[in-house]
Amino acid sequence: MCRLISTSFPLPQQQYWRGSSINKNEGMVQHLQSFGIIKSKRVAEVMQTIDRGLFVPEGTTPYVDSPMQIGYNATISAPHMHAMCLELLESHLKPGMHALDVGSGTGYLTACFAVMVGAQGQTVGVEHIPELAKFSIKNIEKSAAAPLLKEGSFSIHVADGRQGWPEFALYDAIHVGAAAPEIPPALIEQLKPGGRLVIPVGTISQELKVVNKNADGTVNIQSETGVRYVPLTSREAQLRER
Ligand SMILES: C[S@@+](CC[C@H](N)C(=O)[O-])C[C@H]1O[C@@H](n2cnc3c(N)ncnc32)[C@H](O)[C@@H]1O
Repeated sequence: MCRLISTSFPLPQQQYWRGSSINKNEGMVQHLQSFGIIKSKRVAEVMQTIDRGLFVPEGTTPYVDSPMQIGYNATISAPHMHAMCLELLESHLKPGMHALDVGSGTGYLTACFAVMVGAQGQTVGVEHIPELAKFSIKNIEKSAAAPLLKEGSFSIHVADGRQGWPEFALYDAIHVGAAAPEIPPALIEQLKPGGRLVIPVGTISQELKVVNKNADGTVNIQSETGVRYVPLTSREAQLRER
């Protein structure tokens, strides 16, 4: 059973700062803190630990607050969206917990999850474009999350993320980095009671939904904010888009 709690949410903020004046990861994190997007110490620490500059295509400006093209009709999300999703999931990314990132793209957010749940936890990224999955692994290998990938508590898979990743279910935290027309049932099934799913839902108009699973298996769904993400779709449909 699912219960919709609220549909009122603030208007989406597209960009908190403009231009490329911020040229260090530390400066980006400080800006996110000063705008109140990063509230917790753990989120600030992980965003300091995982340098976003290692995850963007060469020649792009990594610390600007906007999404960037990464090829294959995909983008790396803006820093404020990454920070917001980390804040929403922070209490479900404690050491030893299981995290799933659907549409893991560049691997940036997945690497943040991996550092937060640590070697005793399990982090899975699922990306359906093989070239992006390969790109993300190269990025992760340059980052502070590299040892976790090597040891096996962190993995990236090429698959349709709408099916989740049953091998390491149930998950305490599930994040979806692309907008689904409806919440995929497999993701609700693979969410642990007490767990939380953060997912953009919609087509032309989209809302970031927070889905909390109760101990009895029912879910509560809340709308956090209006957003704009690329669609969660089939590989063929994504590559067909212009
Ligand atoms: C906004 S982008 C990347 C988000 C990622 N969090 C980042 O910032 O790098 C969304 C990603 O979802 C992927 N995607 C879309 N539909 C998918 C599906 N059905 N299964 C897996 N990945 C999917 C796209 O290829 C893309 O890499």
